[in-house]
This record gives sequence, structure tokens and C-alpha cells, in this order.
Amino acid sequence: MIPAELYPTTDVLMSRSAKEERLGQRAKVFWLYGLSGSGKTTLAAAFERRLHEEGLFSVVLDGDNVRSGLNKDLGFSDEDRSENIRRIAEAAKLFVENGVLTIVSFITPRERFRRMAREIVGENDFLEVYAKASYETCEKRDVKGLYAKANAGKIRDFTGQQSNFEEPSAPWLVLDTEVSTPEESLEQLWESSQKLVLPSA
Ligand code: ADX
Repeated sequence: MIPAELYPTTDVLMSRSAKEERLGQRAKVFWLYGLSGSGKTTLAAAFERRLHEEGLFSVVLDGDNVRSGLNKDLGFSDEDRSENIRRIAEAAKLFVENGVLTIVSFITPRERFRRMAREIVGENDFLEVYAKASYETCEKRDVKGLYAKANAGKIRDFTGQQSNFEEPSAPWLVLDTEVSTPEESLEQLWESSQKLVLPSA
């Protein structure tokens, strides 16, 4: 490994605070996670739209868009999921350090993956948002038809089947998508986050 001090870019690059000031916001990473079909992508997209309406600037990193490009060499073994999360956390860190609100939406099925992401991004910038819905509900919704395929034995290592999903211990926010509408969840997310992302008075 090459020591980080051989890359002293932080001295020459423009500061995060100057960029945050330009954008009129305080940057954070919102790490949405939960089972496939729990509502992560819907919430991420709606949250981005809401932030935009509030005059804030964000990016969304989503399981499907990142896995079709940056991470297309990775599958769904534990090792590959871990590498998937590591790269996304590093990407999210680059964005947040440049003043951008970063909305991340990945299953992130293990506590150790969430811990790793938190360590990479940094405690102060990392907000864990659990999109909560039971396996049975997600299977019933089956938005992408993946549960049917997995039940027919056509998908290996499917989350909730051969590959388990660990319930989180202490997320910053839980959005229960079984009891709340998408609009209610979005409101809950915006209510909790606005004091953190709007510039301090
Ligand atoms: S993670 O476990 O590494 O965080 P990620 O969120 O990137 O997963 O990718 C999940 C998406 O990949 C799902 O929404 C689904 O569309 C697709 N997918 C394909 N195979 C699997 C699988 N075996 N388990 C879960 N999701 C899968």
C-alpha cells in the first residue's frame, strides 16, 4: 500500500467549506439500505427531488446504476458485496468532501458492511437510514420479479434466501415502508434531515 501522505492533495484542492458555501448546504451521506423491494430506490429518488426543490444539490448512487458500471465486475457473494459497499463508500466520501449531498441506496445486508461504510465516510457525515419491510412484504410486492425468479431457483445468493439480511442495531432513522406511505416516509426523512443539511444561521 502507498502511504496517504504521498498524495498531499488536501493542501492544494479547494476546501469543502468553500464548496458547501457556494452550494448553500452542509453535505452529508444518507445511506439507505434494506431488502430488495423495501422502497430504497423510490425513497432515494423522491428525496433527491425534494432536496432539489429546496434548492439543495445532491447525487444518488443506487444498486442498479452502480452495479451496471463502476461495479459490474462484482456479483453477490459476501466478498463481492463487501467490495461493492467499500467502493460505494469511497465514492460517497469523494462527493461529501466536495460539498455534495449524497444519497446511497444499496441492500447493505450485513452489520459489518454498514460499519465499514461508516468508517470510510466518517462518523460525522454518515446517516444510516433503514427502509424497513419484511421479506414476506417484499416478496409480495416483487417490483422487479426477482423474488419469483429466486423462488424458481434462477438467482443464486438471493438476499433473504441463501444470503441473509441482518437487522440493524441502531440506525439513525427507520422508515417503515409497510406502515407508512412513500409520501409519509419522505416527509419523515426531510423533517429529520433539514436541520443537518441547511446552512446554519
Ligand atoms: S448489496 O448486497 O451489494 O448491497 P446491491 O444493493 O448492490 O446489493 O444490489 C441489489 C440489486 O441487485 C437488487 O435490487 C437486484 O436488482 C439485484 N440482484 C441481482 N442478484 C441479486 C441477489 N442474488 N441478491 C440480491 N439482489 C440481487
